[in-house]
Amino acid sequence: MANLRAPLRAGAGLGRTLSFSFRALASAIAVVVVFFFFSLSFLSSSGSHSSDLTPFGLSTGSYGVESTRRSMLALKSDPLKPRLDQIRKQAEDHKSLALTYAVFARKLKLENSKLVRVFAELSRSYNDLLTKPSYQALLASDALSIDETGLRQFEKEVKERIKVTRQVISEAKESFDNQLKIQKLKDTIFQVNELLTKAKKQGAFSSLIAAKSIPKSLHCLAMRLMEERIAHPEKYSDEGKPTPPEFEDPKLYHYAIFSDNVVAASVVVNSAVKNAKEPWKHVFHVVTDKMNLGAMQVMFKLKDYNGSHIEVKAVEDYKFLNSSYVPVLRQLESANLQKFYFENKLENATKDTTNMKFRNPKYLSILNHLRFYLPEMYPKLHRILFLDDDIVVQKDLTGLWKIDMDGKVNGAVETCFGSFHRYAQYMNFSHPLIKEKFNPKACAWAYGMNFFDLDAWRREKCTEEYHYWQNLNENRTLWKLGTLPPGLITYYSTTKPLDKSWHVLGLGYNPSISMEEINNAAVVHFNGNMKPWLDIAMNQFKPLWTKYVDYELEFVQACNFGI
Ligand SMILES: *[C@@H]1O[C@H](CO)[C@@H](O)[C@H](O)[C@H]1NC(C)=O
Ligand SMILES: *[C@@H]1O[C@H](CO)[C@@H](O)[C@H](O)[C@H]1NC(C)=O
Ligand SMILES: *[C@@H]1O[C@H](CO)[C@@H](O)[C@H](O)[C@H]1NC(C)=O
Ligand SMILES: *[C@@H]1O[C@H](CO)[C@@H](O)[C@H](O)[C@H]1NC(C)=O
Ligand SMILES: *[C@@H]1O[C@H](CO)[C@@H](O)[C@H](O)[C@H]1NC(C)=O
Repeated sequence: MANLRAPLRAGAGLGRTLSFSFRALASAIAVVVVFFFFSLSFLSSSGSHSSDLTPFGLSTGSYGVESTRRSMLALKSDPLKPRLDQIRKQAEDHKSLALTYAVFARKLKLENSKLVRVFAELSRSYNDLLTKPSYQALLASDALSIDETGLRQFEKEVKERIKVTRQVISEAKESFDNQLKIQKLKDTIFQVNELLTKAKKQGAFSSLIAAKSIPKSLHCLAMRLMEERIAHPEKYSDEGKPTPPEFEDPKLYHYAIFSDNVVAASVVVNSAVKNAKEPWKHVFHVVTDKMNLGAMQVMFKLKDYNGSHIEVKAVEDYKFLNSSYVPVLRQLESANLQKFYFENKLENATKDTTNMKFRNPKYLSILNHLRFYLPEMYPKLHRILFLDDDIVVQKDLTGLWKIDMDGKVNGAVETCFGSFHRYAQYMNFSHPLIKEKFNPKACAWAYGMNFFDLDAWRREKCTEEYHYWQNLNENRTLWKLGTLPPGLITYYSTTKPLDKSWHVLGLGYNPSISMEEINNAAVVHFNGNMKPWLDIAMNQFKPLWTKYVDYELEFVQACNFGI
């Protein structure tokens, strides 16, 4: 809300300044109109002295000068003096007018700043005329000794200048109107946009930093577990041991959890086990990176999971995932991208958050893209439930395996509402390949809890489909980042919408999700930057996650996981 209010306030302020400039312009135009009529009468009257100075159409009460002029004309005692005064007044008024326009043009920052100069010069030319010694003498002469020849010469020169001034003004007026409209539009867009960007930057930037950085206690835990792993390798290593048959038993309930966060992964498993009616029928396939493998192995051996089976592996254990097969790995290895992702210095990183987010290696991390290789990673399985590491399971999930998938590959909850979360938002519909293949209004769905029919996947050749598009997107013209756009592309016609109560999203950014909806959810998802393991987590949602943290474990206690 704070983000919204700031630009609105600024908008009101902008409106005020604009209406002020409009008022200024309006009065300027009024002056122009006045002098337009005035000069017109002046110019059309070369001969007759009596009628040429009658300022018709000047009965508007705002110009007090007129009444005095009228009374002066009414005297008619000396035709030359009032005439001279009138010419001088016109010259002076036009001088001010030109000056006003010059200032106005400067304020508007007109692209053709030539106008500023023209008006300034016009104004100066009146001044030159009025200060010319011969005319100074003329103007100073008393009513009875006015040189009529001099007067005519003066009148001619003033008339010439007024003519030019009028011409320039009428041209400028049009230009000002357009410029003002354009400028107003530009100002509005720029100002509102800048404020929005600023607000966004401040908010999003700091939370991105928070989301990226590993909190101290999390780091501590990973280190302690690693120490334990090194101290007692025989207790934790599975090397050389036969694969437990459950890991490949298609009759059991299998889960895929890909994470480099020990606590997050353990919460997912803990919550799923705790809510499972028959824990021994559940198999959790945890895959992490090489660096976190030791810690992860120890973590899942520290306690009993009530008969559930837990496999811990590293990405590196899957030899087929090499850069000649996996486009993302090849792209990651390409020198260009290396540079783009990792050589970003703070100086450039702070420039905009989109780039910052995109540069976060997480977005191209193979751990993130493992979801596209499930059939090959688990060749014996027919179905698997994919879970993100920022979710919490709150119910027994075996009902998912009973859903009729209608031959579809991916069971997921849809996220679109109104015009939001449609395909158009996730990919580049200016690209002919995207435009040709997809409906921009197609409803998007969410990653986080996805039920995959691996047989249908193999049959539909979804991995090949994914490879085709990921290869095309090497230079990121199809989509910018993440795994959702390629997911939406890959399972475009092979996604089965699930009931929304299976997977409630937004606990990492949306404070307004109803508790009823949350309590009713089989899985809640802390997607967004306010992850439950960070300080910035939302207090009302954090307990949903912390209740599954193993605070009783000595390693966890040693690392000061505060609640
Ligand atoms: C193990 O599972 C059984 C059956 O669901 C449950 O009654 C028991 O409380 C569970 N124990 C633990 C430690 O979770
Ligand atoms: C890469 O993986 C493919 C299978 O996906 C395999 O045939 C190939 O030998 C692997 N290459 C290397 C260098 O390991
Ligand atoms: C920041 O980006 C600019 C332009 O892309 C580049 O020339 C410059 O070297 C970068 N600075 C650093 C410190 O990486
Ligand atoms: C983008 O990638 C495509 C396919 O890899 C390639 O044909 C195209 O030339 C690239 N465009 C640019 C601007 O690098
Ligand atoms: C979208 O695709 C078009 C056509 O290939 C390309 O010119 C444009 O740069 C792309 N837009 C983005 C944001 O990559």
